[in-house]
Amino acid sequence: MPSVADLITRKAAQEATCDTELPAEPWQTAQNASYGPGASRGDTFAPLPTPQAPLPARYTQASPEELDAMIAAAKEQLGDRVKILGHFYQRDEIVKFADFIGDSFNLAQQAKAHPEAEAFVFCGVHFMAETADILSGADQAVVLPNLNAGCSMADMANLAQVEACFDQLHEALPGEAIVPVTYMNSAADIKAFCGRNDGVVCTSSNAATVLKEAFERAERVVFLPDQHLGRNTARAMGITDEQMCMWNPNEPLGGNTAQQLAQAKVILWNGFCSVHRRFTVEQIEKARAEYPGVHVVVHPECPAPVVDAADSSGSTEVIRRVVENSAPGDVIAIGTEINMVNRLAQQYPDRTIFCLDPVVCPCSTMYRIHPAYLAWTLESLLEGRVENQIAVPEATAADARVALERMLAAKPC
Ligand code: 13P
Ligand code: SF4
Repeated sequence: MPSVADLITRKAAQEATCDTELPAEPWQTAQNASYGPGASRGDTFAPLPTPQAPLPARYTQASPEELDAMIAAAKEQLGDRVKILGHFYQRDEIVKFADFIGDSFNLAQQAKAHPEAEAFVFCGVHFMAETADILSGADQAVVLPNLNAGCSMADMANLAQVEACFDQLHEALPGEAIVPVTYMNSAADIKAFCGRNDGVVCTSSNAATVLKEAFERAERVVFLPDQHLGRNTARAMGITDEQMCMWNPNEPLGGNTAQQLAQAKVILWNGFCSVHRRFTVEQIEKARAEYPGVHVVVHPECPAPVVDAADSSGSTEVIRRVVENSAPGDVIAIGTEINMVNRLAQQYPDRTIFCLDPVVCPCSTMYRIHPAYLAWTLESLLEGRVENQIAVPEATAADARVALERMLAAKPC
């Protein structure tokens, strides 16, 4: 077993960064300063603003059946007062209790669509809960069952780095309008930076619409933090690799010359998702060799050669629809997180549905929403206590809301 320090600092080969042996009880690693076992374990850890407090023994010692019963009873008693929102990557034990399950765009819409609810329990990751808090009413609470459920990609950009990037760009390219476009997978203060600077948030479902509109306002865009979604979206618009450059926040001018920046239409932050960068063209070739006629669909967080080699790409909702619209007997190979792929395979047993990655990498932080945390937060609400509330300070929320409302207005494509 590697030590925690080993896990934090490890920069092992990509193949070695996935460990499917996630702890059955995520509170075992809750106090560790690392993302813990799973797809993200090779990522550099960003300290949590508020680490998760230990769970009471009533929850850690309960059996799966007891937790199920606690959640069902609390949910029943809370009724319409509480809505449980769940991302597609959540485990089945959580999804079965969700009032709504969807991609990050749809979940953001849901946070606005239920003014009758007193609280949303967000079964997803931190940036999604922050977004729900910003978009929901001032008197509505948003709860993240496990505060350690972050996103390693979102942690690859912080506000100080983004501000330093724009200071340097304005110095290198004086007088030029440069629009920041941030992926939903980013902290609320980065979304607020976008709101203050004529920028916008996008999700993987509407990135193309958002980028097109951004280019109506400026010649140049900084896309953060996911280099792959940025590159894939820009390439689909006809922007060439030569018209893009990468920004490394740890180097002056992001590791570029002033001339490279002047040539770039899209400046890509160098972030990535540890789950999606595992997918390869070789996996696709293998799937095609084994299953002639297979339809390959991947998430646009995958590297560009993988998206190019696939038959289609899109958000988790797009992937769900590809499967829904397929016919009995079809074979579909999917490049996204394993919980979602397995669920689709179960829902459509008359089709052959499998994950492209034989190591079947889970998102280790999504996995931290264990039923014990859901039971604890729901029972607390029932007792009148709001545990694990995600409350974005209003000054930040006001600016972030501007960028998020622009996102909601940009239709998925
Ligand atoms: P979606 O917006 O497609 O749900 O993706 C969110 C995400 O984090 C994928 O890794
Ligand atoms: Fe973040 Fe990747 Fe997990 Fe999505 S799958 S929440 S991008 S770490």
